[in-house]
Amino acid sequence: MDRSALTRDVERYYSEKLRAHGATPHGVDWNSAESQLVRYAQIARILDDAPHASMTDVGCGYGGFLPFLRQRGFSGPFVGVDLSADMIATAVKHCEHDPKASFVVGDAPPSETDFVTASGIFSVRLSHADETWLDYILSTLDGFNRFARRGFAFNCLTSYSDANKMRPDLYYADPRYIFDRCKRLYANNVALLHDYGLYEFTILVRK
Ligand SMILES: C[S@@+](CC[C@H](N)C(=O)[O-])C[C@H]1O[C@@H](n2cnc3c(N)ncnc32)[C@H](O)[C@@H]1O
Repeated sequence: MDRSALTRDVERYYSEKLRAHGATPHGVDWNSAESQLVRYAQIARILDDAPHASMTDVGCGYGGFLPFLRQRGFSGPFVGVDLSADMIATAVKHCEHDPKASFVVGDAPPSETDFVTASGIFSVRLSHADETWLDYILSTLDGFNRFARRGFAFNCLTSYSDANKMRPDLYYADPRYIFDRCKRLYANNVALLHDYGLYEFTILVRK
């Protein structure tokens, strides 16, 4: 897999969404603010009981997750990472009053952190083949595991979606496979959340 060619395609796709829709849920390709918040709420569960921890959000978009977390009492340092330099510039503005926030362009945490989160980075595979995209997901998760001291959380579209609603440019992961892999490779404490009304699942890995 040529990771940099793949991430270049993904970067272009999201930068274009931002240009078209600005710092809004549509600007990060979500179909509604409601669904974005439902996803945040699932991912944020990794931080339960750790309000002062450090965290890195990979695929932070325009930085929408940070105010959501602050409202819920999260007070730790936050690093947002995104492939798109335009997203990062927008996130810097969006969160300019948060003294504990920083943002960098990239596809991995810049350094070790307590928790890594990622909402929405594994869904849009464009024209990349199933095998290539699965490899990309798995190698990205290996990276999360290396950088996250205490745990990580991410979501994927589910292979249990209605067949007539599935799109060829999106990747629908098998939740059983991803759960099993996380349990075998990363930690004993792994939660699979597949009960929140979207065609996707969230995995929480607690080390
Ligand atoms: C669907 S949007 C979600 C944005 C944000 N997480 C949210 O929910 O508001 C996905 C974002 O992740 C970025 N992205 C996709 N793959 C990435 C990767 N491997 N590393 C870093 N950023 C990535 C995209 O540029 C885009 O801004």
